[in-house]
Amino acid sequence: MKPITDGIFHDEFTVSLGLGFTLPARTTFVRLSSGKLGVISPGPQSEESMKWIEQKDPEPVLIAPNMFHHLYLKKMYERFPKAKIYGPKPLPRVKQPWLEGVMTDIDLLQEDLKADFQCIRIEGHPALGETALLHRPTKALIVTDLMFNIFEPMPVMREILLKIVGAYNKPRQSKLLKWTVKDKQVFKQSCQSLLDLDFDLAISAHGDVMMDPKEFIEGMTASMSRL
Ligand SMILES: [Fe+2]
Repeated sequence: MKPITDGIFHDEFTVSLGLGFTLPARTTFVRLSSGKLGVISPGPQSEESMKWIEQKDPEPVLIAPNMFHHLYLKKMYERFPKAKIYGPKPLPRVKQPWLEGVMTDIDLLQEDLKADFQCIRIEGHPALGETALLHRPTKALIVTDLMFNIFEPMPVMREILLKIVGAYNKPRQSKLLKWTVKDKQVFKQSCQSLLDLDFDLAISAHGDVMMDPKEFIEGMTASMSRL
């Protein structure tokens, strides 16, 4: 568990995509103004990490920010059965039936945690269904799969994968999103709206934290120009 900035911590791990492909990933933890703990993109947390969460808040707020980062919600919920869970509305119907009646629509997160987050729903890409979170107290922009920021050294299979999706050694959106987008113009507008936000750092679920917002802005601008 490492600090990123005041009140924000992260836990890094590696996700396997099959066929030998892997990506670095992170779970981001936010100390909420209520004193509770927000867990964004729960991952395969170690026992040490679980104990850290337990100590901070035995009833944490678990947030699945898109339709892909929900795989470890169940494990986390089993450990923390009084946790509150937010996720994209279609998630229970499409991928995780057990969340029916358990999960709260992430569209309500901003209303529920007004002092903590400004939520920006990314439209035009229902398969991704991502909501970006601006953490108001620290001005940290937290995105999930909207941007990769992965640098070498890295395993050769990762290098191959990132070269294919145009995100090798630089902050870039994976071309996978471009290939699967439903409404390109709407998606582009949503992504570009992030650039108008007042943020000091950007945290993606994949790759290095962007401590200079220019990295995110340049990466997103370049990605949108090829969308
Ligand atoms: Fe991801």
